[in-house]
Amino acid sequence: MKIVVASDHGGYELKEIIKVHLIEKGYSIIDIGTNNESSVDYPDFGKKAAEMVASNVADKGIVICGTGIGICISANKVIGVRCALCTNEYMAKMASAHNDANMIALGNRVLGSGLAIDIVDVWLNTEFEGGRHQNRVNKIMEIEKNNNIIRG
Ligand code: RB5
Repeated sequence: MKIVVASDHGGYELKEIIKVHLIEKGYSIIDIGTNNESSVDYPDFGKKAAEMVASNVADKGIVICGTGIGICISANKVIGVRCALCTNEYMAKMASAHNDANMIALGNRVLGSGLAIDIVDVWLNTEFEGGRHQNRVNKIMEIEKNNNIIRG
């Protein structure tokens, strides 16, 4: 499985830790940066990682910033992406089991590295349950087809 990892400067430290962990586990990693702690803009990295998942260059994506919030919002603007901000293992499990999340977002200033690694492992090792959840995921993806403007 190919996993794209990306972060801004706030998430760089955790991205490096997650990357080493996933390589040790045998995953193929595409690291699109950032590559140091110099200030960059998280939307640039969230967008690029999400586009790689949406176009099947990568199977899944992990995006990291200080809180995980900004890069998660950015990734979710790309059609085809379901990026879940996860702060614990239960959220990671449900992100796969119920939401079929093809990306997760993590906050380096929120999580310790041990918890972050556990979150990643639970997300990757949990299967989507399908069934009634498939119908709900389909409804999420239907939203992308609208222009979301209410004309009254
Ligand atoms: C950068 O300082 C910070 O705003 C960013 O990493 C992230 O937390 C945004 O949501």
